[in-house]
Amino acid sequence: MELLKERILKDGKSFDGGILKVDSFINHQMDPILMKAIASEFVKRFSDLNINKIVTIEASGIAPAIMVGLELELPVVFVKKAKPKTMSDMLATQVYSFTKDRTYDVCVSNKFLNENDNVIFIDDFLANGNAALGVKNLIDQAGANLLGMGFIIEKSFQEGRDRLLNENIRVESLVRVKTLGNDLIKFEE
Ligand code: G4P
Ligand code: NA
Ligand code: NA
Repeated sequence: MELLKERILKDGKSFDGGILKVDSFINHQMDPILMKAIASEFVKRFSDLNINKIVTIEASGIAPAIMVGLELELPVVFVKKAKPKTMSDMLATQVYSFTKDRTYDVCVSNKFLNENDNVIFIDDFLANGNAALGVKNLIDQAGANLLGMGFIIEKSFQEGRDRLLNENIRVESLVRVKTLGNDLIKFEE
């Protein structure tokens, strides 16, 4: 997605250690016009699918996911990062975060995700894929059908894509970042 590459080169900040800061237009301050274009690109890429619901994870996945839901006029469910209350319909699992070196609980209500659902998952970053695989675990527990995963930015030097492909998950990334260093951002092809 050219518009997104240009914006990342203009306003993104890269750091040694492979971190890309996009907090002036995606992660903290948000640009709704760009987010709308991002959503349209996801809709185009997944236009062959018959989906009835969008799944994401809080916090940064919610903005792109709700824009996709708006365009498709479909409900959006976000997986919560919290210990499940003692509710019988809460599905839960754990996710390990490399960046924070800790494990956290994620959960979703079986009321909003079940065997009638055909879903795509939308998130801001694909790095190691742990958050995405945690969400896949919840979708599997719910008995829902996962048709694909869409990411705004994939860091292709990390293993997320391969781990998702190993699980036979279709992956659509709007930009794929090949290299990140101090003031250096390179994209795949
Ligand atoms: P993984 O899920 O792909 O395995 O990622 P990892 O544990 O490495 O990353 C944890 C968090 O860091 C995720 O957000 C992820 O989106 C974000 N992240 C990973 N790489 C980058 C990066 O280069 N730049 C930025 N800005 N974020 C990155 P989260 O902690 O779940 O937070 P939230 O922002 O969605 O609330
Ligand atoms: Na995120
Ligand atoms: Na994030």
